[in-house]
Formats: sequence, structure tokens, C-alpha cells
Amino acid sequence: MTGVLAAGIEALTALIPSADPYPQLAALRELSPYSPQDGLVIVGKYTHCSGLLRHPDVSSARDQATLVRSEAPRSRNFLNLDPPDHTRLRRLITRAFTPRVVAELEPRIRAIADDLMDAAARRETFDVVRDLASPLPMLVICELLGVPAADHDMLLSWSAALARSVDLPELRDVERVEARETARTRMEIVKYFQKLVARRRSSPAGDLISYLTQVEDDGDTLSENELIATCVLLVSAGHDTTVNLISNGILALLRNPAALSTVADDPAAAPALVEEALRYDAPVQISARVARTDMQVDGVSIAAGDLLVLLLGAANRDPSVFDRPEEFRPGREHAAKHLSFAAGPHFCLGSSLARLEGAIAFESATRLVEPKLDQAGLTYKPNLTLRGPARMPVSVNGIR
Ligand code: HEM
Repeated sequence: MTGVLAAGIEALTALIPSADPYPQLAALRELSPYSPQDGLVIVGKYTHCSGLLRHPDVSSARDQATLVRSEAPRSRNFLNLDPPDHTRLRRLITRAFTPRVVAELEPRIRAIADDLMDAAARRETFDVVRDLASPLPMLVICELLGVPAADHDMLLSWSAALARSVDLPELRDVERVEARETARTRMEIVKYFQKLVARRRSSPAGDLISYLTQVEDDGDTLSENELIATCVLLVSAGHDTTVNLISNGILALLRNPAALSTVADDPAAAPALVEEALRYDAPVQISARVARTDMQVDGVSIAAGDLLVLLLGAANRDPSVFDRPEEFRPGREHAAKHLSFAAGPHFCLGSSLARLEGAIAFESATRLVEPKLDQAGLTYKPNLTLRGPARMPVSVNGIR
């Protein structure tokens, strides 16, 4: 399959470095469901995205799309599986992410965030991404899994390398070099987790990997490959996504100082801010699916095998659901209806953890004294799916 970068995708990829893709996304939403070429349908309206994410004839096996390039790298984790395989794996892993398990992590997440802010206070400059948003979720997921502290930096660099490969590899002209590098990174992570899993099997340590080696549901257990794929999935799905929530959210707060002072006055306000940050500037902008059968969406014919590109960030600003969607308004009506964690069977497994990390990070941001965004220094990662700043320098008058 060649020449897939047709009108619609060009319109999308042109948005990659943009600090504000939302005018273009709004235009695509109005046009959608929109098929720029055979085999590809772009969907941006809220009801269509929400309906397709829950549709029984829509598959997550993206490599089955008619358009997909054979060299596109894809890992076989449960993000890409359909029921019943998906249901089985998800059931085994869900128990490790119950709200109770997550709530127990709160004191550790607070301690990590405090340490990061204390360390930042000793530096000359403050960069939201470098000093808080990026290390916080990586340290949390590493502690949760039981990755030793000495290996955290290595995982951080692997995760950054993988983030780019998440960006619709089906549609980008994935260069062979990039595909090879992604495969090599993936192999290094796999080897790393194989060793760690072996160590935890012989001496369990009360962490998530130890738990996953022992988890059982009605006689069912995780195979070695499933266990390793799950570790890799958690490191990749749990990191860059949360980095973007924290950075995009703090950016919105810096631009809306009144909202930031509500958390300073009352930390209980943080969860409403997190919900609005998720809606307003979605950390994951796109979820892709494949039509399993011929179907119609709003009079547009979709053929079996068509790749459906669901624009979650555009759906979150659909004025038919959200009043004055371009405004950042914490506590707004229907705030939690956003699709930032997707919907249906693949609804984000880490949503409670991500929400908690976001709330704690926003509270940490209130320690910045007179923070002012250095607009000229704000740059974005060249990634359409996982949207967030690469650098976000902020001038401060100290850190409390
Ligand atoms: C799935 C978003 C944080 C673990 C998803 C999906 C989205 C998403 C949109 C669905 C993908 C699809 O089906 O196309 C986010 C956002 C996060 C976040 C915006 C942060 C703000 C996390 C964290 C973890 C996590 C912290 C775990 C530590 C997962 C897993 C799945 C998933 C395991 C696959 C679920 C399945 O396929 O059944 N996430 N995520 N996520 N997320 Fe998250």
C-alpha cells in the first residue's frame, strides 16, 4: 500500500507541530465522517466517536485494516485485541488497578511530587515537562511495577522512543530506519522485563510484576508473553499520556490564573480541573479502529476493513455536547463526558491513576511563586496522537 498520505491525513499531519490545532480539528469535525480516500474514514463528531468506540462491529486489531502497511510496527498487547481474547486479558489485569489499589498509592505519589518540586527549587530554571510532568508518571509506574530506581532513567528514554511509534504507524510513511529503531527499543524493553519477571518469580516482592506472575482467574493465568507485553504496555500507555495531561493541564492553568488559585485555596478543587484539562486539551488525540462489517455512519458508507481515525480531541470540543467548548471552564456541565480515556471495552485501564497523578501535579504547581509562562520557549513534541509540549519553561519567583 503506497501513497496513503492523501488529503485528510495531510490535513491531520500538518497539525503536528501546531500549538493550537483546534481550529483545524473543528473544520475536520464539521466535515466528518469524511473519507479522503478509499479505506480511510476520519470521524470527529462526538456522537459518532462515542458510538463507534462502543460498536460491536468495530475492531481494535488495527493491523487488519485494508490500508495498513505490512512493515508497520505493532505489538500484540491487549490494546490491539478484540473480545474474547481482550476480555480475558483485561479481566486478569483489571484487579491490579482497582480504585482502592490506586488510592493506596496516593501518599507515595505525593512524596514523589514533593521530592521533584524540592529538587526543582534548587535549580535556576523551571521547566514543567522536565521537572515535573515527565518524571512523575515514570517514577510512579516504575514503583508500581517494581522497577529498581537505578533503571528509571533507562525506562524513561525507552518510553520516549516508543511514544513516536504510537503515532498512527499505519498511516505515516514509517521509514525503515525508524521501524528498525522502534523494533530494537521494543526488544530491549522486552529483554529487560524478561529478566525482571524471572527475578520476581523466584522471589516475589509485593509489586505489580510479582502480582501479575501469580494472578489467576478461574484457573486462567497470564502466559509469559502476555505478562511481558502487559509490562511494556503499562510503561508506554501509562507514561507519555500522563505527561501530556500534566503539561497540557498546567499550561491551561497558567493561562487561567483564577483556576490555579482555586486549587491553591482548596486542593479539593483539583479533580474538577483535571477533568476539564482532559477535555480541553486531550493528551491522546486519536484512537484508531477498523470496521469489521460494512456499515453506515450518518449516511456515509463505511466498508469492512476501513480504518476509522477517531479524533477524540475534536469530539471533546463538539459544541453539540459541550457549551462554549473553546473555554477552559472547570466544573462545567457534562465535563466528564469527554472521550480522552476512550469509551467502551478499551476504556483506559489507568484512568483512576492518571486522574490522581494529575490532581497531585496540579496541587504541586501551586508551589510555584508568581509563575509566568515563557511563551517563546514553549515547544511541542512532533506527535499527533500523543499531544503535549516538549518544553515548557516557566519563570518563577521561587518555589514554596
Ligand atoms: C487505554 C488514554 C493513562 C493504561 C487507553 C485508551 C486511551 C487512553 C484513549 C484507549 C486506547 C484505544 O483503545 O484506542 C489515557 C490517558 C491517560 C492514560 C489520556 C493519562 C491522562 C494511563 C495510565 C495507565 C494506562 C496511567 C496505566 C498505568 C492503559 C491501558 C489501556 C489504556 C492498559 C488499554 C486498555 C484496553 O485496551 O482495554 N488509555 N491513558 N493509561 N490505558 Fe490509558
